[in-house]
Amino acid sequence: MRHIVRGRRHHGGLLIDRRQEVCKHMATETPTAAALRETLRAVIDPASGKDIVSAGLVDGIELRDGLVQVALLTDRAHAAAMEQVCRTVEDLLAGQPGITNATAVLTAHKAPPPPAPAAGHGHGQKPPLLLPEVTSIVAVASGKGGVGKSTVAVNLAVALARQGHRVGLLDADIYGPSLPRMLGLNRKPEVREDKMIPLQAWGVACMSIGFLVDEETPMIWRGPMVMGALEQMMAQVAWGALDILVVDMPPGTGDAQLTMAQRVALTGAVIVSTPQDIALIDARRGVRMFERTRVPVLGLIENMSFFTCPNCGHTSHIFGHGGARLEAQRLGTEFLGEVPLLLDIRTAADAGTPIVAAAPDSEAAKAFSAIAAKVWEKVAGATVARSSGPRIVIE
Ligand SMILES: Nc1ncnc2c1ncn2[C@@H]1O[C@H](COP(=O)(O)OP(=O)(O)OP(=O)(O)O)[C@@H](O)[C@H]1O
Ligand SMILES: [Mg+2]
Repeated sequence: MRHIVRGRRHHGGLLIDRRQEVCKHMATETPTAAALRETLRAVIDPASGKDIVSAGLVDGIELRDGLVQVALLTDRAHAAAMEQVCRTVEDLLAGQPGITNATAVLTAHKAPPPPAPAAGHGHGQKPPLLLPEVTSIVAVASGKGGVGKSTVAVNLAVALARQGHRVGLLDADIYGPSLPRMLGLNRKPEVREDKMIPLQAWGVACMSIGFLVDEETPMIWRGPMVMGALEQMMAQVAWGALDILVVDMPPGTGDAQLTMAQRVALTGAVIVSTPQDIALIDARRGVRMFERTRVPVLGLIENMSFFTCPNCGHTSHIFGHGGARLEAQRLGTEFLGEVPLLLDIRTAADAGTPIVAAAPDSEAAKAFSAIAAKVWEKVAGATVARSSGPRIVIE
């Protein structure tokens, strides 16, 4: 007997047959949100051992035209473990008849009231937001790893500095910091009056946990430690007054994303994606995460979009083309531009000089500069709209 094993994925005790997804568009019956809630009883909460419905983790199910979105309650300590649960929920629901797409996002438990409400911040119960001197904060994020977030963040920051803005670059990737290598920085920041002074590179003020911890030291962090380290890199660093802080986010939708959404007035997020379909599905997850935390998504960037042969100049769309543009339309967000797949981008990054600084007139640098100008345009508009005060709310 022949077993078909390809296309099956094993998720936390649930074997989900991907072939169901292939067939799902043929189904005509559309389930109800209540029926989907029942289906979710098959998914186990790793913290309590109960199913996620009985454990009270299903905060909401929204169902429209075969698209389902599930919000799962979590707290800081369990955010990382809940990532897997999100994926299991998505796979399970995507396999149901009548469902064309399923997204699960994490949402935080309502925060307990802080001991002393902050004066002057106009948002009552919440602790004061960090980085009050920074006019706009932009997170460079994606749903999946390795799509080029750090490359985009670094080049975006340098391009913005070249365009005359006061720019900072924060590496929010505590597990796998990229800035030391990509910027060729391995000094420890000076400490003055109890604050670390960011390192300067190409006119950008930079901070990374990699400046503080030896690259060879294995970093084993738990969720709350990640959040603490990230908060310190905002609160205990002398960022000063910046026009824009670019934040290089770690992959996924875990602790760092929650910290950023909760602790600073994020102007918005830009989502990086590669053209492959699967990456786009992950991009969608990144977009939903920020929407759920009420952080505006400024737009989508397609990285490794096309390949131009350095010898003959021929351009090939290796992974297909236009996916991110279409996806941006579908999600109602802007397409901010595409970055070619170029050996020079990688070699420049590996040599510690971002391509925008190493070869400002190159095709790649021009692509990053055009994206930077668009991001600035969006940010300047958002900052005016936001002037009544930060409005990040976690439900
Ligand atoms: N447009 C590009 N052309 C060529 N190489 C690229 C391009 N973008 C990124 N790379 C290379 O791809 C690799 C992954 O990029 P990068 O580290 O920026 O991804 P990431 O999304 O930040 O990854 P992680 O999720 O691990 O943080 C790096 O070696 C980088 O130099
Ligand atoms: Mg990275």
